[in-house]
Amino acid sequence: MDNARFHIPDNEEYRALKKFIEEHRNTPGPLIQVLHKAQSIFGYLPPEVQKFVSSELNVPLSEIYGVVTFYNFFRTEPIGKHVINVCTGTACHVKGSKVVLEALCKELGVEVGGTTEDKFYTISTARCFGACGLAPVMVIDEEVFGRLSPQKAINIIKDFKKAEEN
Ligand code: FES
Repeated sequence: MDNARFHIPDNEEYRALKKFIEEHRNTPGPLIQVLHKAQSIFGYLPPEVQKFVSSELNVPLSEIYGVVTFYNFFRTEPIGKHVINVCTGTACHVKGSKVVLEALCKELGVEVGGTTEDKFYTISTARCFGACGLAPVMVIDEEVFGRLSPQKAINIIKDFKKAEEN
């Protein structure tokens, strides 16, 4: 795909990404670096950004899609201001992380990996935060919350949001 067929939005984000690509085009294996940069600029990698990278680096879109879906640090959906990660490691699983996760998803009205309508929370899962003694555990951004019950987890996310709004 060439730029004549792909209309590039003329905005600061795309200009910053284009500049980065130009500076890194001739470095070995620039694709991962460019995708990282794109994610740091846009917050995630929507299809139009993937197409732009494909066009600029002259790499097939299928290859870009393969890389983006292979590495779990790349995101194709926008994320909320805060990320809730519920641990699904063995200790947390045994202590009921599944019901905590289900209760949080229900409370927020999203599936795992989803973002609330107000873009405040994204909910995700992770495997073991090394805090197994506190199982079941969730982490909001960097803060660890342990010994959760479904209701306790719901109260925490409500209080966390309230604290930020005040
Ligand atoms: S298994 Fe959840 S913190 Fe280790």
